Amino acid sequence: MSDWFKRAVVYQVYPKSFQDGNGDGMGDLRGVISRLDYIRQLGADVIWLNPIYEHSGVDGGYDIRDYRRIAPEFGTMEDFEELLERAHERGIRIIMDLVVNHTSTEHVWFQESRRDKTNDKRHFYVWREGFEGGEPNRLRSVFSGSAWKRDEATGEYYLHMFADDQADLNWHEPRVREGVYEMMRWWLDKGIDGFRMDVINMVGKPENVLLSDGGPGGDVCNGPTEHEYLREMNHKVLSRYDIMTVGETGGVTTADALRYASLDGSELDMVFQFEHMGVDDEIGPDGALTKWSTARLDLVKLKRILARWQNDLHGKAWNSLYWSNHDQPRVVSRFGCDADEASRVRSAKMLGACLHMMQGTPYIYQGEELGMTNYPFAAIEESRDVEAINAYGELVLERGTFSPEHMMACIRRKGRDNARTPMQWTAGRNAGFTTGTPWMAVNPNFERINAEAQASDPDSVLSFYKRLIALRRELPVVTDGDFALLMEDDAQVFAYIRNDGKTRLKAVCNFSGEEAALEGEAVSCGERLLGNYPDEGDADRLRAWECRIELERA
Ligand code: GLC
Ligand code: CA
Repeated sequence: MSDWFKRAVVYQVYPKSFQDGNGDGMGDLRGVISRLDYIRQLGADVIWLNPIYEHSGVDGGYDIRDYRRIAPEFGTMEDFEELLERAHERGIRIIMDLVVNHTSTEHVWFQESRRDKTNDKRHFYVWREGFEGGEPNRLRSVFSGSAWKRDEATGEYYLHMFADDQADLNWHEPRVREGVYEMMRWWLDKGIDGFRMDVINMVGKPENVLLSDGGPGGDVCNGPTEHEYLREMNHKVLSRYDIMTVGETGGVTTADALRYASLDGSELDMVFQFEHMGVDDEIGPDGALTKWSTARLDLVKLKRILARWQNDLHGKAWNSLYWSNHDQPRVVSRFGCDADEASRVRSAKMLGACLHMMQGTPYIYQGEELGMTNYPFAAIEESRDVEAINAYGELVLERGTFSPEHMMACIRRKGRDNARTPMQWTAGRNAGFTTGTPWMAVNPNFERINAEAQASDPDSVLSFYKRLIALRRELPVVTDGDFALLMEDDAQVFAYIRNDGKTRLKAVCNFSGEEAALEGEAVSCGERLLGNYPDEGDADRLRAWECRIELERA
């Protein structure tokens, strides 16, 4: 069993917004090929590619019509093979998004399944009779409204945990699992280096939340057969290749992760947990916890969550480390400060330092390494994202829970489109993303924030990220050391020590725009490796958004 995943640094590419290669306004595979050297210079050695398969255009490629074809706007299979080859030449591996909790309703399996109740593929999806003339039960879709949709052909309802064009596969049907495994082997045999598995802890859905009884439904995640299916997948597919895997697993606890991501290699290499993404959720006016909030970060909560993940998994399972991805707002706007240029640069570096010195495999979402910010969405018409559009429809138009102004403030803070604006390469036209009309507006701050300007600036966020990645490569303690949280109850400072018995590495970060006092072991002592101010400052206090990385050798 190989463990290169422990030393990997992953760069996430959202192809539609990364680099347009042919001027049609959408990013594509030729565009990614043209930017491989940028990723290599950053120091990342794995690319996670968001879905590039043929899809129905509903949910950013997560609504797949054909798993074995490349969507025409991204290019051809030849382009993909060339990308893989060029990446491998540069020592960069590529992992693909595996979206197998659901398919598009345009997928041939669903087309057959919906035809009639006795169809050979009927049980490939989750079909239920209605309850008293309505939906089978009150289970809700992640994208608002009921998770059930009535289908004309048979009058039965199918399950869709996301948009109604995304029908959930029935993993309890062995032929579904075999079909998925066969498709996975097909990609792995092409030479790809692993998978990021979309909402993979939803596949073992408990039967009792799917009853046609008019009941409340319930949690579909981490069901009773989940581990059995992943072990089967591991045995039949994953263990036969030298690859890395990461499961997207909402609602997992560290106890769950000890099984999903155990170092015994029986399931996955690591998971994306979401506890730390919930620190700025809020109880809405209807009494339910919602991501649609404008709440600020509760640092004490964030520290406790991340420290628990560090400590509970140490030596037993493996962590992923991330602040952002295509589903999250820009972290500098969320947990840092983008109000002025000095704060933006400092807080973006501080956030990078805080995350990258922890134990686990770090993921950098495109543009995070530049400190790219949220977008100033003024009206819902500017949103492209089905999640935000549906939520606006439900919370503002249907129920009146939120005023339009409040909902737009929430979308500006938390909406997924913040992460999906085009990558800012240069100060030139359309930020160098396309020569045509970009599919989504470029953030107006591209003249100030772009890769070209930062590449030549030793004090840029980009240069700082390069240093962070290089430090990880130079110091084994970053990969192997244990973790001890300092100043646990402090609401400004996030400080911790990593220790592998030979080296003690300390990261001390100020998550506020005010000065912060340091106490106990957090006070600066050892050798300063990296910081985000030009001088060392006082040993016992941090300036606004300051971070320090220090080393003590035994
Ligand atoms: C995951 C993806 C997200 C998508 C959803 C449904 O959460 O990251 O982008 O909308 O699954 O596939
Ligand atoms: Ca294009």
